[in-house]
Amino acid sequence: MIKAMFKAWASALLCVSLSVEVAASPTIRERTTDLRALLTDPARQWAANTTVSFPGSTNFENATERYSIFNQPTYTAAVSPGTEGDISKVINLAKSYNFPFLARAGGHGGANMSDFESGVSLDLSKFNSIVINSAAQTMTVGPGVHYRDIFDPLYNAGFYIQTGSCSCPSVIGVAIGGGVGRLMGKLGLTTDALQSVRLVGADGVVKTVSATSYPDLWWAIRGAGANYGVITSATFKIQPLSNNNGGNAFMLDFVLPAEKSLEYLNIIEKSFNPMPVNLAGIIVFNWNSTHNVSQVVSDWIFFGTEADARKTLAPILALNATFITATLPWNRIISVSGGGSDALNCVPNKLRNTFNLNLKTYSAAGWQQSFETLTDFLQKYPNGRGSQVILELFANNATAAVPSSETSWPWRDVRGFFQELFVYDTGDSVTAQGAATYGSQLRSQFAAYSGYSTPTVFVNYARGDERIEDVYGADKLPRLAQLKQKYDPNNLFAYGHPIPLSYP
Ligand SMILES: Cc1cc2nc3c(=O)[nH]c(=O)nc-3n(C[C@H](O)[C@H](O)[C@H](O)COP(=O)(O)OP(=O)(O)OC[C@H]3O[C@@H](n4cnc5c(N)ncnc54)[C@H](O)[C@@H]3O)c2cc1C
Ligand SMILES: *[C@@H]1O[C@H](CO)[C@@H](O)[C@H](O)[C@H]1NC(C)=O
Ligand SMILES: *[C@@H]1O[C@H](CO)[C@@H](O)[C@H](O)[C@H]1NC(C)=O
Ligand SMILES: *[C@@H]1O[C@H](CO)[C@@H](O)[C@H](O)[C@H]1NC(C)=O
Ligand SMILES: *[C@@H]1O[C@H](CO)[C@@H](O)[C@H](O)[C@H]1NC(C)=O
Ligand SMILES: *[C@@H]1O[C@H](CO)[C@@H](O)[C@H](O)[C@H]1NC(C)=O
Ligand SMILES: *[C@@H]1O[C@H](CO)[C@@H](O)[C@H](O)[C@H]1NC(C)=O
Ligand SMILES: *[C@@H]1O[C@H](CO)[C@@H](O)[C@H](O)[C@H]1NC(C)=O
Repeated sequence: MIKAMFKAWASALLCVSLSVEVAASPTIRERTTDLRALLTDPARQWAANTTVSFPGSTNFENATERYSIFNQPTYTAAVSPGTEGDISKVINLAKSYNFPFLARAGGHGGANMSDFESGVSLDLSKFNSIVINSAAQTMTVGPGVHYRDIFDPLYNAGFYIQTGSCSCPSVIGVAIGGGVGRLMGKLGLTTDALQSVRLVGADGVVKTVSATSYPDLWWAIRGAGANYGVITSATFKIQPLSNNNGGNAFMLDFVLPAEKSLEYLNIIEKSFNPMPVNLAGIIVFNWNSTHNVSQVVSDWIFFGTEADARKTLAPILALNATFITATLPWNRIISVSGGGSDALNCVPNKLRNTFNLNLKTYSAAGWQQSFETLTDFLQKYPNGRGSQVILELFANNATAAVPSSETSWPWRDVRGFFQELFVYDTGDSVTAQGAATYGSQLRSQFAAYSGYSTPTVFVNYARGDERIEDVYGADKLPRLAQLKQKYDPNNLFAYGHPIPLSYP
């Protein structure tokens, strides 16, 4: 019975079947020839473990694969370096020959990349080492390391760390844009655990960046880290499991029908506002394809004992619902919670069209309105019924305890995230149009309840059409732009959510 439910939840994202197509225009073909000659010239003297690949090969497919194919970049070549020296080589070649390149770690970036055309994927997947130093309580990872790769090694060594909510993005990719997640209340952002990084700059030179080495860059890369160089390793502070109930968390998952949504959302607004420091809730509005209705799905994680969890969650446990509960070790939280939906949520190469917002106010009225608007979309667009609205509700005690001036990450008062995820088949222009219309409408409706005076969204969740001030913060931009001018004057790192060379 539990199994059937898990399967059904997960199927929310299954109804999408797509294939990647990159149209080859004449200019693209011409550029391909140039890059192929340039990159395969023996004068390059690539290291033996560097791979150069082109369309039509598995190496190329792997080196350019992305989580979402919505507004994806187009590539004509990929370099998968085995050494930092070869990363420098790609950067220097790009500068000399003026071709676009894009560092790729986990491939989960959500920015609009459609202005990146016929470029080179600088695929960092070979930098996949994980070194845990138990005595120093640190972990050093390369950009090819995904969250799923660190759970068991860290846990088995007696440690844990704050992470994002899914297993598939790269640890470094998440960290350099902030890195929000369920442990924000206790430990802060993923970026707050950073101690130092190695970075190949736009000048091709390898630098150690930390509080004592390039401190200006150290400030910038913790929030806007994709703009200043290629990070080849990062060292994080890790926490002993013994500080946190032996690493055991309590999970409470359940589904509520639409009729109960407002009662439930009111309970959250009244009883979990502010969110208790050990608690995190992920609430999903989606479509129940068995009953053909919209519904509210919940996943609550409490870092502590079951007894304390039950006390804290009592207002929710008083609801008339079928609860699924479990005690989960830290390394199993992401794979088991939410009905095991992580595995399916992480399937790459699907069209995923997202509109997201930061939130700092908890408003049942705002959440309910978005549930009703989403329901309207789901009823009208049967081919978009894998679409969802996701509320991530996290405490922010440890996040807010770090002074804002410490990092470039601008939203230390944030207490949750509003995410719209539209999924439909490529070529389904009817549903695409519906998603575009409802997507913007839902976002502007909810922005009024977000607690911010403008629709803000941190960089990892930004779509690409937001005002730059609403992504990086107006107060951070002058310094970020000065540092961009200083460290990347040729604007080599110009895609995604680029920091301008001057601001204002
Ligand atoms: C399923 C899913 C779950 C997510 N969950 C969370 C979450 O819980 N918390 C959160 O904060 N974010 C989350 N995100 C957002 C995620 O953090 C960002 O999309 C992040 O940019 C992904 O990094 P990546 O390396 O996987 O992606 P990529 O597409 O490889 O990289 C994203 C951007 O960062 C640049 N970049 C990546 N690595 C490096 C590097 N080593 N040096 C320099 N530049 C680099 C790339 O050039 C690109 O511009 C999630 C995204 C998805 C799709
Ligand atoms: C569909 O709704 C029923 C009744 O609320 C619930 O028991 C079931 O788990 C739901 N299915 C999914 C896929 O969430
Ligand atoms: C490509 O990626 C797949 C899936 O991760 C893997 O099984 C395969 O070995 C990779 N191929 C190459 C050539 O690296
Ligand atoms: C690639 O080879 C060089 C030289 O042998 C080595 O130093 C480096 O660690 C290798 N890179 C990877 C990612 O294994
Ligand atoms: C993505 O960017 C391109 C080029 O900048 C633009 O034409 C397009 O409208 C953008 N797409 C979305 C969905 O914002
Ligand atoms: C609890 O919910 C079930 C099914 O949703 C319903 O049949 C039952 O009457 C409800 N009980 C109470 C006390 O509301
Ligand atoms: C589901 O609802 C749609 C209208 O929203 C209707 O066309 C369809 O027949 C329903 N399917 C089932 C199985 O009830
Ligand atoms: C966490 O912060 C909230 C305010 O946002 C505060 O009310 C609460 O007491 C703090 N919790 C702890 C454990 O410090």
